[in-house]
Amino acid sequence: MPDNSVDFIFAHPPYANIIKYSKDIKEDLSRLELEEFLDQMNLFSKECFRILKEDKYCAVLIGDIRKNKNVFPLGFYIMNIFIQTGFTLKEIIIKEQHNCKRTSYWSQNVNRDFYLLAHEYIFVFKI
Ligand SMILES: C[S@@+](CC[C@H](N)C(=O)[O-])C[C@H]1O[C@@H](n2cnc3c(N)ncnc32)[C@H](O)[C@@H]1O
Repeated sequence: MPDNSVDFIFAHPPYANIIKYSKDIKEDLSRLELEEFLDQMNLFSKECFRILKEDKYCAVLIGDIRKNKNVFPLGFYIMNIFIQTGFTLKEIIIKEQHNCKRTSYWSQNVNRDFYLLAHEYIFVFKI
């Protein structure tokens, strides 16, 4: 796409590899391990920066994930990647998120020693 040619970007990328969207599509970002996924998000943010017109908005819907019962703040890592690329952060919108794939399993598990993630973010960036 040409430089400075897009009026609005709304992206909802995979949450790294917590849900896999394909088995053998090479370009599928959901097949990547976390580090490689973040590298791709870095390239993605640079492309967004290149194609977005000045004074226009780029919004990214993304959430945190849990690994081995601990939070991996994927949302904030991606937010930082966009800021490092040069975007200004206009808004952080919190979106409630219930009934995820594992919610019923963990909500019934009395031995759970963590809260369920029940929100995700819409980061709104501007050049
Ligand atoms: C969290 S889901 C978002 C789904 C979206 N909200 C929708 O309603 O279609 C992430 C999506 O990104 C897609 N995806 C994965 N790698 C991609 C890539 N390299 N380019 C474009 N889309 C990709 C997946 O197939 C999946 O549909």
